[in-house]
Amino acid sequence: MRAIHISSPGRDYCLVLAKEPRPVPGRGQVLIGVAAAGLNNADLLQARGKYPPPPGASPILGLEVSGTIAALGDEVAGFAVGDAVCALLPGGGYADYALADAGSVLPVPAGVDLVAAAGLPEAAFTAWTNIVDTGRLAPSETLLVHGGTSGIGSLAIQIFAGLGHHVFTTVGSDEKCGAARKLGAARAINYRTEDFVAAVKDETGGKGVDVILDMVGGDYVQRNIDAAAPGGRIVNIAYQQGFKVEVNFAPVLAKRLTLAATTLRSRPNPEKQAIRDALLETVWPLMGPKIQPVVAQEFALDQAQQAHEFMAKTGHIGKILLRMA
Ligand SMILES: NC(=O)c1ccc[n+]([C@@H]2O[C@H](COP(=O)([O-])OP(=O)(O)OC[C@H]3O[C@@H](n4cnc5c(N)ncnc54)[C@H](OP(=O)(O)O)[C@@H]3O)[C@@H](O)[C@H]2O)c1
Repeated sequence: MRAIHISSPGRDYCLVLAKEPRPVPGRGQVLIGVAAAGLNNADLLQARGKYPPPPGASPILGLEVSGTIAALGDEVAGFAVGDAVCALLPGGGYADYALADAGSVLPVPAGVDLVAAAGLPEAAFTAWTNIVDTGRLAPSETLLVHGGTSGIGSLAIQIFAGLGHHVFTTVGSDEKCGAARKLGAARAINYRTEDFVAAVKDETGGKGVDVILDMVGGDYVQRNIDAAAPGGRIVNIAYQQGFKVEVNFAPVLAKRLTLAATTLRSRPNPEKQAIRDALLETVWPLMGPKIQPVVAQEFALDQAQQAHEFMAKTGHIGKILLRMA
């Protein structure tokens, strides 16, 4: 099969097309004939040599795919060869065939294109587990999603607006504000021209926001604390502007806030399966008419390098995909 290899990992890495043996599914795994793979920032970090795959994961890039099931390993129930699926992977998606743990596989929802579905798993798993499991977002509570037109943000806004929450978001341009509002954001804040702390205070009558999903870090650590409502929960999935900051924790104490941060990739399969089951029950029924993956751009597999360069510019709205055909 065709697969992408990283030649010379590091700052000036190069992605090249190579040949690999087709993987064979083990116990509890399915082999997916890949239609498309979703790009993630983690792929860029891995290619730069800064995010090694967890033990046992494929060294091939690619944390999510869509496609059809080509073969089943032993002890897999509920799936059949030929099923149209999308799946979260620990690696291996930039290839014609990829292995997935059956507990990380979801059906392609009715009304969602097979290729576009490659953009669902990483964003859906990440948004759900951080906002609901860790952030404990309760009915009628408000949510602030930073990076609202990112791959993660563009799906998170749709899911939680679709579930009836008032969702605020920050983005880096007026064009992105318009896109975020179309996705269901009650208020989109251009962080280059507006202070998000003042904006969410204004929107909530001075109370602040109940749950914040942050991928920015840096000075957002303090500003999130300032923007949070009493009892608020702030969950970081990345610290793009830096891990080290000086913070005044007095409001954390006074407002009884919770600060948390999580990663998804290294979690054990049963934890991922529990998230998959929650998505199937609560989010998948909204897919199609109410929620669609936002596809910024599709590239052919042999254009993986260009796809990475496009992602690194951060101007995109939604997910970037690699098509196998
Ligand atoms: N912890 C986990 O388990 C986990 C899982 C998946 C992803 N992640 C992380 O989550 C982040 C998003 O992933 P992705 O795949 O969705 O990436 P992506 O599509 O490349 O999005 C990155 C976003 O960050 C935004 N951004 C940068 N600085 C910002 C700022 N100051 N304020 C608001 N937004 C800002 C950019 O938006 P603007 O251009 O509008 O600034 C861009 O939309 C990445 O850092 C990724 O590594 C973590």
